[in-house]
Amino acid sequence: MKVAIFDLNEEKGQKVASDLGLTYCNVNVTDDASVDAGFEKARAANGQERILVNCAGTGSAAKTAGRKKETGEISSFPMEVFERVIQINLIGTFRCIAKSAAGMLTLDAMADGDRGAIVNTASVAAEDGQIGQAAYSASKGGVVGMTLPVARDLSTEAIRVNTILPGLFNTPLLAGLPDNVKDALSATVLNPKRLGDPSEYALLALQMIENGYFNGESVRLDGGIRMAPR
Ligand SMILES: NC(=O)c1ccc[n+]([C@@H]2O[C@H](COP(=O)([O-])OP(=O)(O)OC[C@H]3O[C@@H](n4cnc5c(N)ncnc54)[C@H](O)[C@@H]3O)[C@@H](O)[C@H]2O)c1
Repeated sequence: MKVAIFDLNEEKGQKVASDLGLTYCNVNVTDDASVDAGFEKARAANGQERILVNCAGTGSAAKTAGRKKETGEISSFPMEVFERVIQINLIGTFRCIAKSAAGMLTLDAMADGDRGAIVNTASVAAEDGQIGQAAYSASKGGVVGMTLPVARDLSTEAIRVNTILPGLFNTPLLAGLPDNVKDALSATVLNPKRLGDPSEYALLALQMIENGYFNGESVRLDGGIRMAPR
């Protein structure tokens, strides 16, 4: 399989690409022209893709409204932060889906009838978002919500669409946390009591891609965790 990665972070993206022999495309998923240029570069290097895995995402931590403990000062959620999270996690995902699917339509279906497969990344926060996660949960809930209608839109073209809702995974997002915080997070997982490994995410993504009967579904991958309010 030939792989291209889209990421805003040029330094890390280039490194992963050269370590693994992939094509790196410096893409901002919130920018239409940037995504177009990314697909152009990826397709020039590897040909038209049949698989898209959406992972780019970001979080935020702010209460809908609240007051500071020390001063009693009242504030509300900064709307520019809410909009940024929706732009990246929800609209960025949809932008890549729509442009990738349009590219896939230029290909014939394969012998097994499949033309392509798309995997999105939501979060368990789509279902049990915590205090401070209004924007993040809304964005990920949006990804879950659009999974079926997008699968329906693309059904006549034999492109399947599924979404993974990860729990707590040991990615760069969490890798920077101190060990005691990681241990505390691991203890909240039902079984096994550890963070998920990115290879376990990859295993489910691969299943969603390879299994021709997997379609229109959103699946939690979380060791049975149900997030508490905080
Ligand atoms: N790690 C977890 O526990 C966890 C849990 C649930 C969901 N997720 C989701 O999994 C996905 C991957 O997260 P991760 O844990 O690997 O985090 P990460 O921060 O390591 O990776 C996210 C990547 O998205 C890129 N990105 C951010 N904004 C972008 C933009 N506008 N355009 C292009 N790229 C952009 C970042 O540069 C980064 O490389 C995210 O959507 C995240 O919300 C992660």
